[in-house]
Amino acid sequence: MSIREFAERVLLSSSLDEKLAAAPRQLDDSNPGPPIFPKWPGRPAELVVAPRRSTPQMPAPGAMERIESRAIAHHIMANHELQALEVMGLVLCAFPDAPTEFRAGLVEVMSDEQRHTRMHIERGTACGLSFGDLPVNGYIWKKAQSFTCPLDYLAGLPLVFEGANLDHTLAFAEAFDRGGDRRGATVLRTIHRDEIRHVRFGIEWLRRMKPPGASDWDTFAGHLHWPLRPSKARGEDFQRQARLEAGLDADFVDRLESLQAGQ
Ligand SMILES: [Fe+2]
Ligand SMILES: [Fe+2]
Repeated sequence: MSIREFAERVLLSSSLDEKLAAAPRQLDDSNPGPPIFPKWPGRPAELVVAPRRSTPQMPAPGAMERIESRAIAHHIMANHELQALEVMGLVLCAFPDAPTEFRAGLVEVMSDEQRHTRMHIERGTACGLSFGDLPVNGYIWKKAQSFTCPLDYLAGLPLVFEGANLDHTLAFAEAFDRGGDRRGATVLRTIHRDEIRHVRFGIEWLRRMKPPGASDWDTFAGHLHWPLRPSKARGEDFQRQARLEAGLDADFVDRLESLQAGQ
């Protein structure tokens, strides 16, 4: 199997099992194919992106004592993980000229996203909701429609969405703990650890691909397309240490920390 075939399966299959099927160990990348940029990912009928106002809001952390709230949270987060996976598949199909080492690294991250999707589906089911019981949004996918090159991707997904998730995962883990759901909290802490590696993938490749002499921050900020912006790369409880562990430099972390989340 080639990287392109794996990416197309993730991106275009309407079977959830196929989208979440592991990549073979050795993938060929000798023929990455022509660029394609589909408007929507393939999805089973119950997971087709629904109109904006029909999808549930994320329950507040304080509501996680209720199992119904935790079920909704897992459902929403499973869809976030699935979208991240699909966006990575899109990047492999849309930018076939990117270095093979970058593409192979992305396949490794995708296997984590497949696992994360499954973990949220499993915990959501244990809390009473099957994946597809609720309408799902396409927030992350839609933001990826503005990506024009791998640097747009690196700024927008690893450094904004996965960066912010360093904060969200631990905030939710604590909320699940307060709700007495140790297993849900463990899933969130596991994803937090993986997300540190995913942010590292983002900053390392941004450094390799940025123009000579450009700073990490200017490259990051310059490759975000509105409404993506640096303040979207953090949550309320700022995890400084996790960002340093991911390899962001102190100046980059200071700048993020000085921003108000989402402003
Ligand atoms: Fe993930
Ligand atoms: Fe991730």
